[in-house]
Amino acid sequence: MEKAFEIMKRRRSVRSYSDKSIESHLFNELGKYCHSIESGPFGVAVRFKLLDLSFLSNEELRSLGTYGIIRGAQHYILGAVREGPGALEDFGYCFEKIILKATSMDLGTCWLGGTFRRGSFAAKMNLGADEMLPAIAPVGYPAEEQSTADRVLRFGAGSKTRKPWDQLFFSSDGKTALDKEEADKFHDVLEAVRIGPSASNRQPWRITRNSGDCYHLYLKENKLYNRIMGKFRMQFIDMGIAMCHFELAAREYRLPGRWQVNMPAPHLPGLHHIATWTV
Ligand SMILES: Cc1cc2nc3c(=O)[nH]c(=O)nc-3n(C[C@H](O)[C@H](O)[C@H](O)COP(=O)(O)O)c2cc1C
Repeated sequence: MEKAFEIMKRRRSVRSYSDKSIESHLFNELGKYCHSIESGPFGVAVRFKLLDLSFLSNEELRSLGTYGIIRGAQHYILGAVREGPGALEDFGYCFEKIILKATSMDLGTCWLGGTFRRGSFAAKMNLGADEMLPAIAPVGYPAEEQSTADRVLRFGAGSKTRKPWDQLFFSSDGKTALDKEEADKFHDVLEAVRIGPSASNRQPWRITRNSGDCYHLYLKENKLYNRIMGKFRMQFIDMGIAMCHFELAAREYRLPGRWQVNMPAPHLPGLHHIATWTV
């Protein structure tokens, strides 16, 4: 099987899809994978569904609503999570596993947390009273040419670039940039976090390295941006995605450890502690 880190490197947001439907064996495999995921490191219940809309006319597809951002998609991954502490992190962690599974099958995807009509997709998920639908993703074969909307969006978000190491990863004091050599066998694990997707490519993850291969994960929140969509705080989803990439890369490199979500961590100004990786 292809390595998780290689799959992460190949993933990028696809906003224009070819008119070819997903082959039925791949659709079934991805659908089964969606159903197999039930919760993340915070233990919050999640559920996912692969939606086939290939029977809808182009006009009906348009009216479902992605505001012209997504072109030609006939399939969508929908996800619901029970509201509560850690809900958005678990949602991001679990949904990203599905995104990577789709990428490994050479299918394109695009996280959508803002530019879709939430109500019309939520109706397809039969949400319980305590559930929310924070994001969805189209899935399918990428079109040969990307649309103008896609190019403009990618350029606007600077989607190709990522912040350099010294702005994301630090020694235990939270100030000194982490030397790549110092990261040692965790180099690619941190790199897996750095290349991950985030809402508007804001990359709000910060990580400190502590003795004993212990890593604290923090959110550098942009409070205004993170509240634009009310309770759907995209930057907590970003943190779940980071936890997913870190863990999958660590497993691949056979580095022992797991996420602890209730461990105390040093207070660092402007940062909000999310979770800690410990051996
Ligand atoms: C939580 C989350 C929400 C996102 N919401 C949207 C969205 O509403 N519309 C959109 O076009 N892209 C959305 N994106 C995609 C990001 O803009 C994209 O991941 C980022 O610019 C990096 O580009 P890449 O995915 O091609 O690497 C979202 C990504 C994440 C992680």
